[in-house]
Amino acid sequence: MLTEEIRKAAKENMVLCSACPVCDCRTCRGRVAPGPGGAGNGENAIRSFDKVHDICINMDVVNENIKPDTSFIMFGKTFAYPFFIAPIGLPQRVYGPKLDDTTYAEVLISGGAEAGILAFTGGGPMLEVYEKPVAVIKQLGGLGIPTMKSFPDDAVFRCIELAVDAGAPALAMDIDCVGLIPGGGPFIRRSEKELAQLVQKCPLPLILKGVMTPRAAKAAIDAGAKGIVVSSHGGRLSPSLPAPIEVLEEIANNVRGKITIIVDGGFRSGEDVFKAMALGADAVLIGRPFAVAAYGGGVEGVKNYAVSVGENLRQAMLLTGAKTLADIRREMVRCAF
Ligand SMILES: Cc1cc2nc3c(=O)[nH]c(=O)nc-3n(C[C@H](O)[C@H](O)[C@H](O)COP(=O)(O)O)c2cc1C
Repeated sequence: MLTEEIRKAAKENMVLCSACPVCDCRTCRGRVAPGPGGAGNGENAIRSFDKVHDICINMDVVNENIKPDTSFIMFGKTFAYPFFIAPIGLPQRVYGPKLDDTTYAEVLISGGAEAGILAFTGGGPMLEVYEKPVAVIKQLGGLGIPTMKSFPDDAVFRCIELAVDAGAPALAMDIDCVGLIPGGGPFIRRSEKELAQLVQKCPLPLILKGVMTPRAAKAAIDAGAKGIVVSSHGGRLSPSLPAPIEVLEEIANNVRGKITIIVDGGFRSGEDVFKAMALGADAVLIGRPFAVAAYGGGVEGVKNYAVSVGENLRQAMLLTGAKTLADIRREMVRCAF
């Protein structure tokens, strides 16, 4: 889905990513700090990719000849497609100095906006890694969703303030960041009660990223969060977790309709987005390939990749008879887990 030209240019521009023809996290396995790979020997990142690609789409073309509509509404805003750009913090340490937290956000938000989608922006152990992209969101008219780390309250309140000031439509928090640094580093875990207190202080819809069980999904709803991301942080936390796509259906069966369900980990094409939706997701985040698109093709590269994913989703809808996203159903995919 990424063109050869973009991959070739990205390879030249990037340091620790090989811009592989298939972004399956095998070549970069174990390269995490620094690097774009998965933790351990990369098992969870590779598993996440493999499980998505084990699912097949049940073609059935005996249908009315209607052009599928890929548009998606989230928190009152309409997007061209039901997928977004995943947050990636400190790109300069992982992919190379060509882009930093500010320029990466500029490229991703602008390219995403041209394709009709949003970029989530990332964070790091220092607050400034969150602050820089949020300043870009403000500059570009609120077309991004900041992702704050699970810092202690004072810093989190500052993140909320900045997101509101930037005009962001929502705010995310990667609650799983407690697993990124041995012992948790500067990040803290919060109980359901503590999350509820935080939601009360946040005027924006809050999305909790890093939910991998029905229990945590229910706790997110009870705390008042408006969205969850079923995510193992791109396999960067532990090699022993399941793939997000493996736990998605069970979670969706418990909470569908009560909270916006987003999933990430190993999704690369529109057909992959289709598979997630058939298993109960409302939307998908795509991470690493957008970094390659940004380093190899800038705003144009990001836009082109997003449109190609979107058009490939339309193609999957055409092959299954889904006219709208709401028509994508479980029986449209063959999934062994
Ligand atoms: C290099 C790198 C940096 C990341 N930084 C962040 C971050 O700052 N905040 C966050 O919530 N997730 C972060 N993630 C996780 C991604 O947002 C996302 O969950 C994951 O990459 C999705 O999997 P994919 O890359 O296979 O699409 C990062 C992932 C990578 C590879």
